Amino acid sequence: MIRAFEKPIYVTRPFLPPLAEFSQGLEEIWETRWLTNDGPILRRFTQALCNFFETDNVCLFNNGTLALQIALQGMGISGEVITTPFTFVATTHALFWNKIRPVFVDIEPEYYTLDPEKVEAAITPWTTAILAVHVYGYPCKLNVLADIARRHNLRLIYDAAHAFGVRVGTKPIGHFGDLSMFSFHATKSYHSMEGGLLIFKEAGLKGTLDYLKNFGFKNEEEVVMPGTNAKMNEIQALMGIQVLQYLDEIVQKRARITELYRQMLRDIPGIHLTPPSSPDILYTHAYMPIEINETEFRMSRDELHEELKKYNVFSRKYFYPLICDYACYRNVSVKDPLTIARRVADRILTLPIYDALELSDVETICEIILSLHRGRRHESQF
Ligand SMILES: Cc1ncc(COP(=O)(O)O)c(C=O)c1O
Repeated sequence: MIRAFEKPIYVTRPFLPPLAEFSQGLEEIWETRWLTNDGPILRRFTQALCNFFETDNVCLFNNGTLALQIALQGMGISGEVITTPFTFVATTHALFWNKIRPVFVDIEPEYYTLDPEKVEAAITPWTTAILAVHVYGYPCKLNVLADIARRHNLRLIYDAAHAFGVRVGTKPIGHFGDLSMFSFHATKSYHSMEGGLLIFKEAGLKGTLDYLKNFGFKNEEEVVMPGTNAKMNEIQALMGIQVLQYLDEIVQKRARITELYRQMLRDIPGIHLTPPSSPDILYTHAYMPIEINETEFRMSRDELHEELKKYNVFSRKYFYPLICDYACYRNVSVKDPLTIARRVADRILTLPIYDALELSDVETICEIILSLHRGRRHESQF
C-alpha cells in the first residue's frame, strides 16, 4: 500500500536563486531607482543572451505571448499561417491578434511537432508563413521545414517557448528559421518570473521590435508606429540573469529525473514514451510527457490524472483539448483530420518535473503508476 505524499507534488515548481543573491541584486535597483525602460540590468541581461545565443539579434519582452504577437506584426505576416493545434493557446492567440488565419495541420507521432508533409499539403496562395512549435522542447523537423519554407517562399517562425537552452549539433535552437520566441514564464525550466525573448536572422528587424514594444517611441517627440507596451522590467531581468547562472545545474537535475522516469515507466504496458534522445541534441528536459493507451494500461489518461491526485500528485493534461476545439476557435475551418493530434491529446499526460524534485519522489510516483495499473489488471481477472 503506497501512502499519499504529505505535501502536494505539483507538475512544476520554479527554480529560485538564493535569496541573499537576489537581495543583493535588488540593492542595485533600490540605489538607481531604475525600474523599467531599458535599464542597466536589462541591458546586461540582453548582453548575456547575445553571448548565450551567439548573435546580436536579440530582443527582450515582458512575456512570450506579446513577444510572438509583436514578432508577427514586425515581420508583416498576414493572410494564412500553417500551425499546430497541439500547443499552448497563446501560439494561436498571437496569430488571431494580428488578424491572421490559423491553418491547423497534424503533428508527427514521435515528438508531437508539426508534420512537414501536412504542412506542404496545406499551402495555398494566401499562406505567408509556418508557425511551428518545439513542443516540450523537442526540436521540430528543422531541415525539412526550412526546405519547404524556402521552396514556397514562406517565413519560418518557431514558437520555442519550451526550448530555451536546447542545442542542435553545435547551434543554439534559436539559430533555426527566421525567428524564434522563447518564454521565460515561471513554469518554464528557465525563467525570469515572466518574460519573453525573440532571436531572429534579419538584423534590420531589431529596430522595429524595439519600437513596437515601447509604444512606437523613437525619441521624446516622435512616435513612428502604433506600438504597445511589452517591455521587460529590471526585476524580471535580474531574475533572468541570476537563473541563467544555474541553468546547467537545473538541466542536469532534470536530466536525472527524466532518466529515472524513463527507466521505471518504460516496461509498464500501455505507457508510451517519446523515443530516446538523439546524441546530436542537447535537451533541457522541460517536460515529462507520457501517453496512456487505455486498453493496455487498463485505465484511461483521465482516470490516471484523477487517481494521481488522490496521492497528492498533480499531473497536467498538457495539451488537451486541441486549440481548434476551444470555443473561440471552433469556427476556424480545419481541413486536416488531425488524426495524430487528436489521439495524442486524448492520451497525453505530463508528470511532475522540476530541479528540486527528489529522485525518491520520482520513484514513488512511478510506483504509484505501476500499482494503479496492477490494480486494474488484478480487478479484470475476476
Ligand atoms: C507553447 C507556448 N507558446 C507560448 C506561450 C506563452 O508564453 P508566456 O506565458 O511567456 O506569455 C507558452 C507558455 O506560457 C507556451 O507554452
